Amino acid sequence: MAGRKGQQLVLLLVLALWGTVTASHQCDSGDLQALNAFKAVFLDPGRLFETWTGTDCCDGWAGVNCTNSGRVNSLILEGPFPTRGPNPYPKSGYIGLAAAALTDLTELETLRVISVFFNGPLPDTFGNLKKLETLEFGFNNLSGSLPPSIGQAKKLKYLTINVNMPQGFDQKFDGGPIPESFCDLTDLETVSLTSSRLTGQIPACVCNWQKAWSLELSVNALESEIPNCIGYTLKQLTRLTLDYNNFTGPIPVMLGRLTELETLKLDHNNFSGDIPASFGNLTFLEEFTASDNELGGPIPASFGNLQALVTLDLSYNYLDSIPAELGNLTSLYELNLRRNKIQGRLPAEIGNAGSGVEQGLQLDVSHNILTGKLPLTLGALASFLAHDNFFYGPFPQSLAAVGYVDLSNNYLGSWGDIGPAPETYDVRILLLRNNRFVGPLPSWIPEILNKSRLITDIDISHNNFTGDVAPLFQDAPELRLLNASYNSFQSHLPESPFVTPYGSTLDLSHNLLDGPIPASFFTNNAGAQFIDISYNELSGPLPDSVGDLEAIALLDLSHNHLTGEVPKSIEQLNDTIQYLDLSFNNFIGSVPATALEHKVSFDDDDHEYF
Ligand SMILES: *[C@@H]1O[C@H](CO)[C@@H](O)[C@H](O)[C@H]1NC(C)=O
Ligand SMILES: *[C@@H]1O[C@H](CO)[C@@H](O)[C@H](O)[C@H]1NC(C)=O
Ligand SMILES: *[C@@H]1O[C@H](CO)[C@@H](O)[C@H](O)[C@H]1NC(C)=O
Ligand SMILES: *[C@@H]1O[C@H](CO)[C@@H](O)[C@H](O)[C@H]1NC(C)=O
Ligand SMILES: *[C@@H]1O[C@H](CO)[C@@H](O)[C@H](O)[C@H]1NC(C)=O
Ligand SMILES: *[C@@H]1O[C@H](CO)[C@@H](O)[C@H](O)[C@H]1NC(C)=O
Ligand SMILES: *[C@@H]1O[C@H](CO)[C@@H](O)[C@H](O)[C@H]1NC(C)=O
Ligand SMILES: *[C@@H]1O[C@H](CO)[C@@H](O)[C@H](O)[C@H]1NC(C)=O
Ligand SMILES: *[C@@H]1O[C@H](CO)[C@@H](O)[C@H](O)[C@H]1NC(C)=O
Ligand SMILES: *[C@@H]1O[C@H](CO)[C@@H](O)[C@H](O)[C@H]1NC(C)=O
Repeated sequence: MAGRKGQQLVLLLVLALWGTVTASHQCDSGDLQALNAFKAVFLDPGRLFETWTGTDCCDGWAGVNCTNSGRVNSLILEGPFPTRGPNPYPKSGYIGLAAAALTDLTELETLRVISVFFNGPLPDTFGNLKKLETLEFGFNNLSGSLPPSIGQAKKLKYLTINVNMPQGFDQKFDGGPIPESFCDLTDLETVSLTSSRLTGQIPACVCNWQKAWSLELSVNALESEIPNCIGYTLKQLTRLTLDYNNFTGPIPVMLGRLTELETLKLDHNNFSGDIPASFGNLTFLEEFTASDNELGGPIPASFGNLQALVTLDLSYNYLDSIPAELGNLTSLYELNLRRNKIQGRLPAEIGNAGSGVEQGLQLDVSHNILTGKLPLTLGALASFLAHDNFFYGPFPQSLAAVGYVDLSNNYLGSWGDIGPAPETYDVRILLLRNNRFVGPLPSWIPEILNKSRLITDIDISHNNFTGDVAPLFQDAPELRLLNASYNSFQSHLPESPFVTPYGSTLDLSHNLLDGPIPASFFTNNAGAQFIDISYNELSGPLPDSVGDLEAIALLDLSHNHLTGEVPKSIEQLNDTIQYLDLSFNNFIGSVPATALEHKVSFDDDDHEYF
């Protein structure tokens, strides 16, 4: 018994092997004709049809697959992405017509035509393709609109018609309204109709697509309200993208029932009203964007349940409050609330958000009407953009651990509890422009410059710091910008051993700095590209060492009380200098302007800007 079974097995194996080796599925003559007709309407500069020769389309024709009986069941043409630039032309791609011959391949299950410069309107004969499961046209040069006959390809599961032209090309495809016939495609699992100039409303009958797990309609001109039924019928949806359209009305509360959702993009529309509290039930949601709408009211406290949330972008709306519950969102990586109408204090709990993310949370609450003192507990953030608000009180020292801090245009001052110093100083960019700091530099500023080995930008301009400027000069090896202009610093320029990194910018203008310029000032800053010490009270001669500035593009010494002759060494700046301003001083003699190619402003009434 066992022996006979064994023999049968061997026989089966032999037959199976024989079948695959001989691959006897000679191409169906009708399909061959259709493929040849299709090939005939293509220019083929990239010779991508090179393999389409002979009569057996099932044997080695690139992109063509057959059934065992020689019928073409899959055609996949994927050209190289068309070249961009002034003369965009697909030099190595296909160029051809969206020929009706395609729909003569009646056994097709898969038809994907991507980036091949398919010109003209799509044929409206998709009803021939009764077995079609996958249909994709992307990055083509289509004209016309969506063919309603696609709705007759009843087996369709994956439908993608998107980005019909790469950026920089004229788009001629006017998708038009989503044809009602598409609603008959009840097997659809994914629908992607992006960047296709779709117009009109989403027909309510899309709620027939009950097997859909991904529905993408981004970047079209769809308008009006979105059908409420989506919320209680398309239960499988994990991805819904309606961004960059013209939708209006409230966000349907019912969408809160799509509990499988992982991605929900509603940004760049004209949605109004509140954000539904029901969204707190979307516990798998990873990305929610609703920026650039007309949404108002609070961010619902129920958002504290969205434990999977990674990205929450509600910027550019009229939202008015942040719930402390957002601090519960441990996976949050980006929280963007820029340009809303959020008032009151920033809840300290926000500092806990993103605690499960290694890099920390990127938080943007800039351009709101937030006020009160900053929480002392924001040190775990990756970035904190809170400029253009009404925060007052001290700068919490723990922020020196945050990579990018912008608190410009607030009312922060040098008083009150600054909290504990951070364990590590990781700040790279620290912007405190236009606040209300007064008095001598508090020690935390030089400490940041000294201890944050990564700091590239520090801007404390437009405050009213007084006293000695020297503590700003620390060994900060990555510094690109030190802006302390528009303060009331009153001291000599420092003779510190601090060396500005090559290419950096130093702006100490509009202060009360006095005394002579030490020779070491230029030597130590020899690599600087931009030095502005104008509008101070500096006196004495300009030291010879000015010629040491090897990278200088802009040097502004104007509006001081410098005296004596301008040293000859200044000619050495000729190679790099773009703008040199010596005006409004008490120099005697003349400047070797010819050597500097007239890139100099010297006389008080002679302002040349280059
Ligand atoms: C087409 O056939 C090749 C080789 O047999 C196979 O690797 C590929 O998966 C097939 N493609 C489709 C879409 O059926
Ligand atoms: C794209 O289509 C237009 C006509 O709709 C045609 O004039 C143009 O030449 C086509 N571009 C390419 C690169 O085929
Ligand atoms: C949205 O609608 C407005 C007003 O009807 C119109 O001016 C605008 O062009 C539309 N935008 C898009 C992307 O369709
Ligand atoms: C958006 O809606 C507001 C009213 O809510 C309306 O004033 C505005 O014109 C709309 N904008 C567009 C582009 O439709
Ligand atoms: C969340 O779902 C539960 C049960 O599914 C429901 O009772 C509750 O009303 C929903 N919450 C909101 C805010 O809609
Ligand atoms: C969420 O945050 C609030 C306020 O910060 C807190 O009272 C609540 O216990 C937190 N809930 C969970 C589930 O962590
Ligand atoms: C800067 O740091 C060095 C050592 O890292 C230390 O010796 C020095 O005192 C510090 N200066 C200031 C102003 O903190
Ligand atoms: C800056 O502070 C100095 C000294 O405290 C004060 O005299 C001056 O008026 C202040 N300037 C501004 C613009 O507040
Ligand atoms: C320094 O800050 C002042 C005032 O904020 C600004 O006008 C100036 O352009 C800044 N300087 C540089 C070099 O960025
Ligand atoms: C100044 O530099 C320019 C190039 O930046 C050069 O052409 C010119 O000859 C130089 N002039 C003198 C006087 O060295």
